[in-house]
Amino acid sequence: MTMRSSLRYLHRGEIRDVSHFGPMTTLLDHLRLERGLKGTKEGCNEGDCGACTVVLGRLVDGHVSYRPVNACIQLLGQIDGEELITIEDLAASDGTLHPVQSAMVDLHGSQCGYCTPGIVMSLFALYQADGPVGRSEVTDQLAGNLCRCTGYRPIVDAALSACAARTENKPGDHVASKSAETAVKLASLRDGADLFVGSQTSFFAAPASIESLATLYHQHPDAILVAGATDVGLWITKQLRQLPKIIHLGRVVGLAEVHETADGLTIGAAATFSDVEAHMTAIDPDLGEVWRRIGSKQVRASGTVGGNIANGSPIGDSPPALIALDATLTLQKGDDTRKMPLEAYFIAYGKQDRKPGEFVRSIHVPRLKPHQVFRAYKISKRFDQDISAVMSAFRLTLEGDFIREARIAFGGMAATPKRAHGAEKALVGASLADEASWAAALAAIRADFTPLSDMRASATYRSDTAAALLEKALIEIAGTSTHATRVTGHRPVSEAAE
Ligand SMILES: Cc1cc2nc3c(=O)[nH]c(=O)nc-3n(C[C@H](O)[C@H](O)[C@H](O)COP(=O)(O)OP(=O)(O)OC[C@H]3O[C@@H](n4cnc5c(N)ncnc54)[C@H](O)[C@@H]3O)c2cc1C
Ligand code: FES
Ligand code: FES
Repeated sequence: MTMRSSLRYLHRGEIRDVSHFGPMTTLLDHLRLERGLKGTKEGCNEGDCGACTVVLGRLVDGHVSYRPVNACIQLLGQIDGEELITIEDLAASDGTLHPVQSAMVDLHGSQCGYCTPGIVMSLFALYQADGPVGRSEVTDQLAGNLCRCTGYRPIVDAALSACAARTENKPGDHVASKSAETAVKLASLRDGADLFVGSQTSFFAAPASIESLATLYHQHPDAILVAGATDVGLWITKQLRQLPKIIHLGRVVGLAEVHETADGLTIGAAATFSDVEAHMTAIDPDLGEVWRRIGSKQVRASGTVGGNIANGSPIGDSPPALIALDATLTLQKGDDTRKMPLEAYFIAYGKQDRKPGEFVRSIHVPRLKPHQVFRAYKISKRFDQDISAVMSAFRLTLEGDFIREARIAFGGMAATPKRAHGAEKALVGASLADEASWAAALAAIRADFTPLSDMRASATYRSDTAAALLEKALIEIAGTSTHATRVTGHRPVSEAAE
């Protein structure tokens, strides 16, 4: 395997080579402090406000696919092999504005202007995406962009207007007109080499294969693995931690793949939330909705399912859903792999069943079998871009109206994502047609957990909510077991960002 000691990315049609940078350098600092490109703004510096949004392009099946990311928590090394587009790059060299910029001007989408570069970049990514753009797509796209003064109505109008007028060769859309050229240049950056910038004591590495990753991590078990950096980025910007050795997983060939198997889905540890969203919706619409409400477009475009599990957080959204679905985790150390039920990975607060030098390789998620039904609900203070106070997931196996088996998992109720074993047991033999038979389970679920009070919710609220969510699931499932239509109770997306 060849080794490369400088980072390469495409910007303004030129391949840039960066041979000296610290492993913790963020993309935002690189832009503003090293390159003097100050159009990209810093607001929160923790992935919440979207002021720093830039767009990255990568080759997917021969075409350039664009996604918005928060430059404040994206590490510079993560953009190796990608095209970088910032707010300075949207207008053509003769000053003609990009259609998204023109629409923002024409429809008064900006007042103080601080959020505007980030909002324009998010909308630019939406403009480049395939598929129809309606109000819900726009509000979903903007859930990670905070505007404090204009109000979203004119911004949404500008987005709808620009995207409705999308045509090939639209004046001002010089990014699209160069996409074939860009694809060739991006292909030339795919050298298959392992990236290693720095020394044995301080480096940013991005191995290109599983073998290189396993070897490097085996040699440096003290290195920090970085997938999307939507957690690790904050260790740098908010906790001011020193992370001298970083191994990035984003270039490992095959690690981001998602495979449909006979009984389910195998998700590579580096697959992002966005990569997996459609697969999750196909398993169950509730699962798709939980996925859509994780962070924002920017967070989902970088954050990975592997990172959500590996970080061991008691409030991550995917573990409860995946535990209820009986998912299996595969870990790898050197050449050795081992599998375990996902729930067994979470031992105690801050303690996971992962050895030094071992990494998450993949997650297998079984599809629902006939007679199995699933529900999942995320409870958070804000509808979008918020961490859960309580996250719940339920999988019931039915025999007619009777519950033959139940798997129930919660986040936010204990020191780890955890099953409600008492409620599961009490539900076996209960009937969906007889609400009185649910009573034991509704009582048991309160005994299953001893939640904490914190800034997100009190212990009492959490216990009451857990029981209420179980009841909601049973009522909905009882309804759908006799009626064809499903009661989702989801708030329409169009209300979310307003
Ligand atoms: C604004 C914002 C909103 C958010 N909203 C949500 C939300 O709604 N719901 C939610 O659940 N989370 C949310 N998060 C948290 C975060 O996005 C998730 O935890 C995400 O899944 C982390 O994945 P990552 O790839 O970015 O991990 P990273 O930050 O790269 O890594 C996280 C941890 O996992 C380790 N790690 C990563 N990959 C592996 C691997 N393959 N093997 C072993 N260890 C590994 C890292 O070393 C690190 O300890 C939010 C974060 C931000 C900044
Ligand atoms: S500065 Fe707020 S998301 Fe980056
Ligand atoms: S225009 Fe001022 S914050 Fe959005």
